[in-house]
Amino acid sequence: MTIQQQITVGELVTFFTYTWMITMPMRQLGRVISQLGMTKVALERLSAILDAPAETYEGQLQAQSLKGKIQFDDVWFKYADDDPEYALQGVSFSVAAGEKIALMGATGAGKSSIIALLMRFYEPQRGTILIDDAASHRYDKTSLRSRIGVVLQKPFLFSTSIAKNIAYARPRSHEQDIYSAASAAAIHDIIDIFADGYDTLVGEKGVTLSGGQKQRIALARTLLEKPDILVLDDTTSAVDAETERHIQEELIAQMSNRTTFIIANRISSVADADQILVFEKGKLVQHGTHRQLLQQEGFYKRVYDVQQQTT
Ligand SMILES: Nc1ncnc2c1ncn2[C@@H]1O[C@H](COP(=O)(O)OP(=O)(O)OP(=O)(O)O)[C@@H](O)[C@H]1O
Ligand SMILES: [Mg+2]
Repeated sequence: MTIQQQITVGELVTFFTYTWMITMPMRQLGRVISQLGMTKVALERLSAILDAPAETYEGQLQAQSLKGKIQFDDVWFKYADDDPEYALQGVSFSVAAGEKIALMGATGAGKSSIIALLMRFYEPQRGTILIDDAASHRYDKTSLRSRIGVVLQKPFLFSTSIAKNIAYARPRSHEQDIYSAASAAAIHDIIDIFADGYDTLVGEKGVTLSGGQKQRIALARTLLEKPDILVLDDTTSAVDAETERHIQEELIAQMSNRTTFIIANRISSVADADQILVFEKGKLVQHGTHRQLLQQEGFYKRVYDVQQQTT
Protein backbone atom coordinates (compact mmCIF):
# COMPACT_ATOMS: atom_id res chain seq x y z
CA MET A 1 0.00 0.00 0.00
CA THR A 2 2.98 2.28 0.63
CA ILE A 3 4.30 1.58 -2.90
CA GLN A 4 0.92 2.42 -4.29
CA GLN A 5 1.03 5.54 -2.10
CA GLN A 6 -2.16 4.62 -0.31
CA ILE A 7 -0.41 5.04 3.08
CA THR A 8 2.77 6.91 4.06
CA VAL A 9 6.03 5.30 5.28
CA GLY A 10 5.33 6.86 8.65
CA GLU A 11 1.95 5.13 8.81
CA LEU A 12 3.60 1.80 7.93
CA VAL A 13 6.15 2.19 10.74
CA THR A 14 3.41 3.20 13.17
CA PHE A 15 1.38 0.14 12.14
CA PHE A 16 4.25 -2.27 12.86
CA THR A 17 5.07 -0.55 16.13
CA TYR A 18 1.50 -0.98 17.31
CA THR A 19 1.44 -4.61 16.18
CA TRP A 20 4.49 -5.28 18.32
CA MET A 21 2.94 -3.51 21.24
CA ILE A 22 -0.02 -5.87 21.02
CA THR A 23 1.80 -9.15 20.32
CA MET A 24 4.28 -8.89 23.21
CA PRO A 25 1.63 -8.70 25.95
CA MET A 26 -0.43 -11.35 24.16
CA ARG A 27 2.50 -13.76 24.22
CA GLN A 28 3.20 -13.03 27.84
CA LEU A 29 -0.43 -13.61 28.65
CA GLY A 30 -0.17 -17.09 27.15
CA ARG A 31 2.81 -17.86 29.34
CA VAL A 32 1.12 -16.50 32.46
CA ILE A 33 -2.03 -18.51 31.85
CA SER A 34 -0.07 -21.77 31.56
CA GLN A 35 1.92 -20.91 34.69
CA LEU A 36 -1.24 -20.09 36.58
CA GLY A 37 -2.15 -23.77 36.76
CA MET A 38 1.25 -24.63 38.17
CA THR A 39 1.04 -21.81 40.68
CA LYS A 40 -2.33 -23.01 41.89
CA VAL A 41 -0.95 -26.49 42.62
CA ALA A 42 2.17 -25.07 44.29
CA LEU A 43 0.06 -22.77 46.40
CA GLU A 44 -2.10 -25.64 47.57
CA ARG A 45 0.96 -27.62 48.65
CA LEU A 46 2.51 -24.60 50.29
CA SER A 47 -0.57 -23.81 52.30
CA ALA A 48 -0.81 -27.43 53.41
CA ILE A 49 2.66 -27.02 54.90
CA LEU A 50 1.89 -23.63 56.38
CA ASP A 51 -1.36 -24.86 57.88
CA ALA A 52 0.18 -28.00 59.37
CA PRO A 53 0.11 -27.85 63.16
CA ALA A 54 3.56 -27.24 64.59
CA GLU A 55 5.05 -30.38 66.06
CA THR A 56 6.08 -30.02 69.66
CA TYR A 57 9.41 -31.53 70.50
CA GLU A 58 9.59 -30.60 74.14
CA GLY A 59 8.58 -33.11 76.74
CA GLN A 60 8.80 -33.46 80.48
CA LEU A 61 11.34 -36.25 80.32
CA GLN A 62 14.82 -35.93 78.90
CA ALA A 63 16.17 -39.23 77.60
CA GLN A 64 19.75 -38.62 78.64
CA SER A 65 20.45 -42.30 78.55
CA LEU A 66 18.05 -45.16 78.10
CA LYS A 67 18.21 -48.63 79.57
CA GLY A 68 16.16 -49.87 76.67
CA LYS A 69 13.18 -51.47 78.41
CA ILE A 70 10.21 -51.22 76.08
CA GLN A 71 6.61 -52.19 76.44
CA PHE A 72 3.78 -52.01 73.90
CA ASP A 73 0.38 -52.40 75.50
CA ASP A 74 -2.63 -52.99 73.23
CA VAL A 75 -1.40 -50.49 70.65
CA TRP A 76 -3.77 -49.55 67.81
CA PHE A 77 -2.44 -47.29 65.13
CA LYS A 78 -3.31 -46.00 61.67
CA TYR A 79 -1.47 -43.38 59.65
CA ALA A 80 -4.46 -41.26 58.71
CA ASP A 81 -7.77 -41.07 60.50
CA ASP A 82 -9.65 -41.96 57.32
CA ASP A 83 -7.57 -45.10 56.62
CA PRO A 84 -9.99 -48.03 56.52
CA GLU A 85 -7.63 -50.44 58.30
CA TYR A 86 -5.39 -50.04 61.31
CA ALA A 87 -1.71 -50.58 60.43
CA LEU A 88 -1.22 -52.02 63.92
CA GLN A 89 -4.03 -53.83 65.67
CA GLY A 90 -3.84 -54.44 69.40
CA VAL A 91 -0.12 -55.09 69.52
CA SER A 92 1.33 -55.98 72.93
CA PHE A 93 4.83 -57.17 73.80
CA SER A 94 7.55 -56.30 76.22
CA VAL A 95 11.28 -56.12 75.83
CA ALA A 96 13.74 -56.27 78.71
CA ALA A 97 16.72 -53.94 78.68
CA GLY A 98 19.53 -55.28 76.48
CA GLU A 99 17.46 -57.83 74.61
CA LYS A 100 17.70 -58.55 70.93
CA ILE A 101 14.28 -58.49 69.28
CA ALA A 102 13.56 -59.65 65.79
CA LEU A 103 10.52 -58.47 63.85
CA MET A 104 9.34 -60.59 60.96
CA GLY A 105 6.39 -60.65 58.63
CA ALA A 106 5.30 -60.12 55.06
CA THR A 107 5.59 -56.76 53.39
CA GLY A 108 3.11 -54.27 54.80
CA ALA A 109 2.65 -56.30 57.99
CA GLY A 110 3.53 -53.37 60.25
CA LYS A 111 7.19 -53.88 61.19
CA SER A 112 8.40 -50.41 60.25
CA SER A 113 5.29 -48.91 61.85
CA ILE A 114 6.41 -50.29 65.24
CA ILE A 115 9.67 -48.39 64.83
CA ALA A 116 7.91 -45.21 63.67
CA LEU A 117 5.89 -45.27 66.89
CA LEU A 118 8.94 -45.96 69.01
CA MET A 119 10.68 -42.93 67.50
CA ARG A 120 7.47 -40.90 67.96
CA PHE A 121 7.12 -40.00 64.31
CA TYR A 122 3.47 -40.83 64.97
CA GLU A 123 1.38 -41.38 68.08
CA PRO A 124 -0.90 -44.42 68.45
CA GLN A 125 -4.66 -43.86 68.48
CA ARG A 126 -5.11 -46.31 71.36
CA GLY A 127 -2.88 -48.14 73.81
CA THR A 128 0.37 -47.18 75.46
CA ILE A 129 4.05 -47.47 74.71
CA LEU A 130 6.39 -47.43 77.67
CA ILE A 131 10.08 -46.71 77.32
CA ASP A 132 12.04 -47.35 80.51
CA ASP A 133 8.66 -47.54 82.30
CA ALA A 134 7.59 -44.03 81.22
CA ALA A 135 4.91 -43.36 78.60
CA SER A 136 6.66 -42.53 75.33
CA HIS A 137 4.66 -39.30 74.83
CA ARG A 138 6.22 -37.82 77.95
CA TYR A 139 9.68 -37.83 76.42
CA ASP A 140 11.32 -34.88 74.76
CA LYS A 141 11.41 -35.93 71.11
CA THR A 142 14.85 -34.59 70.31
CA SER A 143 16.43 -36.36 73.25
CA LEU A 144 14.52 -39.57 72.64
CA ARG A 145 15.53 -39.72 68.98
CA SER A 146 19.13 -38.99 69.80
CA ARG A 147 19.26 -42.15 71.95
CA ILE A 148 17.69 -44.42 69.33
CA GLY A 149 19.80 -45.26 66.30
CA VAL A 150 17.88 -46.39 63.26
CA VAL A 151 19.35 -47.72 60.06
CA LEU A 152 16.55 -47.03 57.63
CA GLN A 153 15.21 -49.48 55.14
CA LYS A 154 16.42 -47.26 52.29
CA PRO A 155 19.61 -45.59 53.50
CA PHE A 156 20.36 -42.09 52.31
CA LEU A 157 23.91 -41.09 51.48
CA PHE A 158 25.00 -37.54 50.77
CA SER A 159 27.12 -36.54 47.76
CA THR A 160 30.24 -36.10 49.83
CA SER A 161 33.12 -38.23 51.09
CA ILE A 162 32.58 -41.61 52.72
CA ALA A 163 34.15 -40.33 55.96
CA LYS A 164 31.71 -37.42 56.12
CA ASN A 165 28.81 -39.73 55.39
CA ILE A 166 29.77 -41.97 58.29
CA ALA A 167 30.46 -39.05 60.65
CA TYR A 168 27.28 -37.24 59.62
CA ALA A 169 25.79 -37.15 63.12
CA ARG A 170 29.14 -36.78 64.86
CA PRO A 171 31.14 -34.51 62.54
CA ARG A 172 34.01 -34.12 64.99
CA SER A 173 34.59 -37.83 65.36
CA HIS A 174 38.09 -39.14 65.69
CA GLU A 175 39.36 -40.93 62.57
CA GLN A 176 39.98 -44.06 64.58
CA ASP A 177 36.34 -44.17 65.70
CA ILE A 178 35.18 -43.83 62.11
CA TYR A 179 37.41 -46.73 61.10
CA SER A 180 36.20 -48.98 63.87
CA ALA A 181 32.54 -48.20 63.11
CA ALA A 182 33.27 -49.04 59.48
CA SER A 183 34.94 -52.32 60.32
CA ALA A 184 32.09 -53.28 62.63
CA ALA A 185 29.77 -52.70 59.67
CA ALA A 186 32.07 -54.84 57.46
CA ILE A 187 32.81 -52.02 55.04
CA HIS A 188 36.31 -50.93 56.14
CA ASP A 189 38.15 -53.37 53.87
CA ILE A 190 36.13 -52.27 50.85
CA ILE A 191 36.75 -48.58 51.50
CA ASP A 192 40.46 -49.36 51.82
CA ILE A 193 40.52 -50.66 48.26
CA PHE A 194 39.25 -47.34 46.83
CA ALA A 195 42.12 -45.11 45.66
CA ASP A 196 41.02 -42.21 47.85
CA GLY A 197 40.01 -44.40 50.78
CA TYR A 198 37.71 -42.61 53.16
CA ASP A 199 37.93 -39.43 51.06
CA THR A 200 36.27 -41.17 48.13
CA LEU A 201 33.24 -39.23 47.01
CA VAL A 202 29.89 -40.96 46.99
CA GLY A 203 27.09 -40.34 44.52
CA GLU A 204 26.90 -38.47 41.25
CA LYS A 205 30.47 -37.21 41.22
CA GLY A 206 32.03 -40.20 42.88
CA VAL A 207 31.81 -43.96 43.08
CA THR A 208 28.55 -45.78 42.68
CA LEU A 209 28.07 -48.05 45.65
CA SER A 210 26.05 -51.23 45.61
CA GLY A 211 22.90 -51.49 47.70
CA GLY A 212 24.69 -53.65 50.26
CA GLN A 213 27.62 -51.23 50.51
CA LYS A 214 25.26 -48.32 51.08
CA GLN A 215 23.50 -50.27 53.80
CA ARG A 216 26.80 -50.92 55.52
CA ILE A 217 27.87 -47.28 55.38
CA ALA A 218 24.53 -46.32 56.91
CA LEU A 219 25.10 -48.95 59.58
CA ALA A 220 28.58 -47.55 60.33
CA ARG A 221 27.01 -44.09 60.64
CA THR A 222 24.53 -45.33 63.23
CA LEU A 223 27.09 -47.39 65.16
CA LEU A 224 29.30 -44.32 65.48
CA GLU A 225 26.47 -42.58 67.31
CA LYS A 226 26.57 -45.25 70.02
CA PRO A 227 22.81 -45.26 70.55
CA ASP A 228 21.16 -46.90 73.57
CA ILE A 229 18.64 -48.60 71.34
CA LEU A 230 19.62 -49.79 67.88
CA VAL A 231 17.12 -50.51 65.13
CA LEU A 232 18.09 -52.24 61.92
CA ASP A 233 15.24 -52.07 59.41
CA ASP A 234 16.09 -54.64 56.78
CA THR A 235 19.69 -53.48 56.98
CA THR A 236 21.39 -56.63 55.86
CA SER A 237 18.90 -57.61 53.18
CA ALA A 238 21.30 -56.71 50.36
CA VAL A 239 24.34 -58.27 52.03
CA ASP A 240 25.56 -61.84 51.44
CA ALA A 241 25.23 -64.41 54.22
CA GLU A 242 28.96 -64.45 55.02
CA THR A 243 29.18 -60.67 55.49
CA GLU A 244 25.96 -60.73 57.43
CA ARG A 245 27.44 -63.19 59.91
CA HIS A 246 30.45 -60.93 60.35
CA ILE A 247 28.21 -57.90 60.98
CA GLN A 248 26.16 -59.85 63.50
CA GLU A 249 29.21 -60.92 65.47
CA GLU A 250 30.38 -57.32 65.58
CA LEU A 251 26.96 -56.11 66.58
CA ILE A 252 26.81 -58.54 69.46
CA ALA A 253 30.16 -57.18 70.65
CA GLN A 254 29.24 -53.52 70.17
CA MET A 255 25.64 -53.67 71.27
CA SER A 256 25.99 -55.99 74.25
CA ASN A 257 23.57 -54.85 76.96
CA ARG A 258 21.85 -52.51 74.53
CA THR A 259 18.42 -53.20 73.16
CA THR A 260 18.51 -54.06 69.49
CA PHE A 261 15.60 -54.44 67.07
CA ILE A 262 16.29 -56.35 63.91
CA ILE A 263 13.78 -56.39 61.09
CA ALA A 264 14.71 -59.14 58.71
CA ASN A 265 13.24 -61.95 56.74
CA ARG A 266 16.21 -64.28 56.77
CA ILE A 267 16.06 -66.95 59.44
CA SER A 268 19.84 -66.67 59.87
CA SER A 269 19.43 -63.01 60.86
CA VAL A 270 16.84 -63.67 63.53
CA ALA A 271 17.52 -67.16 64.90
CA ASP A 272 19.65 -66.03 67.85
CA ALA A 273 17.28 -63.23 68.95
CA ASP A 274 15.91 -63.31 72.50
CA GLN A 275 12.42 -62.84 71.11
CA ILE A 276 11.03 -63.13 67.63
CA LEU A 277 7.79 -61.30 66.85
CA VAL A 278 5.90 -62.29 63.73
CA PHE A 279 3.40 -59.82 62.29
CA GLU A 280 0.62 -60.44 59.85
CA LYS A 281 -1.59 -57.62 58.56
CA GLY A 282 -0.97 -55.44 61.60
CA LYS A 283 -1.44 -58.18 64.18
CA LEU A 284 1.20 -59.87 66.27
CA VAL A 285 0.53 -63.50 65.39
CA GLN A 286 3.55 -65.39 66.70
CA HIS A 287 5.92 -64.65 69.52
CA GLY A 288 8.79 -66.65 70.97
CA THR A 289 12.33 -67.86 70.44
CA HIS A 290 13.58 -69.66 67.34
CA ARG A 291 13.10 -73.05 69.01
CA GLN A 292 9.63 -72.28 70.26
CA LEU A 293 8.46 -70.96 66.91
CA LEU A 294 9.78 -74.01 65.06
CA GLN A 295 7.46 -76.16 67.14
CA GLN A 296 4.41 -74.19 66.00
CA GLU A 297 2.72 -74.33 62.66
CA GLY A 298 2.77 -70.86 61.16
CA PHE A 299 4.61 -68.17 59.24
CA TYR A 300 7.94 -68.75 60.97
CA LYS A 301 8.08 -72.47 60.33
CA ARG A 302 6.96 -72.01 56.73
CA VAL A 303 9.73 -69.46 56.11
CA TYR A 304 12.22 -71.75 57.85
CA ASP A 305 11.27 -74.71 55.68
CA VAL A 306 11.53 -72.70 52.48
CA GLN A 307 14.89 -71.24 53.41
CA GLN A 308 16.24 -74.65 54.46
CA GLN A 309 15.42 -76.00 51.03
CA THR A 310 17.11 -73.18 49.16
CA THR A 311 20.35 -73.10 51.16
N1 LIG B 1 3.69 -43.25 55.75
C1 LIG B 1 2.61 -44.01 55.61
N2 LIG B 1 1.40 -43.47 55.36
C2 LIG B 1 0.30 -44.24 55.24
N3 LIG B 1 0.30 -45.58 55.34
C3 LIG B 1 1.47 -46.19 55.57
C4 LIG B 1 2.69 -45.44 55.71
N4 LIG B 1 3.69 -46.32 55.94
C5 LIG B 1 3.12 -47.54 55.94
N5 LIG B 1 1.79 -47.47 55.71
C6 LIG B 1 0.86 -48.62 55.70
O1 LIG B 1 0.91 -49.25 56.94
C7 LIG B 1 0.93 -50.68 56.80
C8 LIG B 1 2.16 -51.24 57.49
O2 LIG B 1 3.31 -50.77 56.82
P1 LIG B 1 4.79 -50.97 57.35
O3 LIG B 1 5.65 -50.00 56.65
O4 LIG B 1 4.81 -50.95 58.83
O5 LIG B 1 5.09 -52.45 56.83
P2 LIG B 1 6.42 -53.31 56.92
O6 LIG B 1 6.06 -54.53 57.70
O7 LIG B 1 7.54 -52.49 57.42
O8 LIG B 1 6.65 -53.75 55.41
P3 LIG B 1 8.02 -53.88 54.57
O9 LIG B 1 8.54 -55.26 54.85
O10 LIG B 1 7.56 -53.77 53.15
O11 LIG B 1 8.92 -52.79 54.98
C9 LIG B 1 0.86 -50.95 55.30
O12 LIG B 1 -0.45 -51.27 55.00
C10 LIG B 1 1.26 -49.65 54.67
O13 LIG B 1 0.59 -49.46 53.45
MG1 LIG C 1 9.30 -51.74 56.53
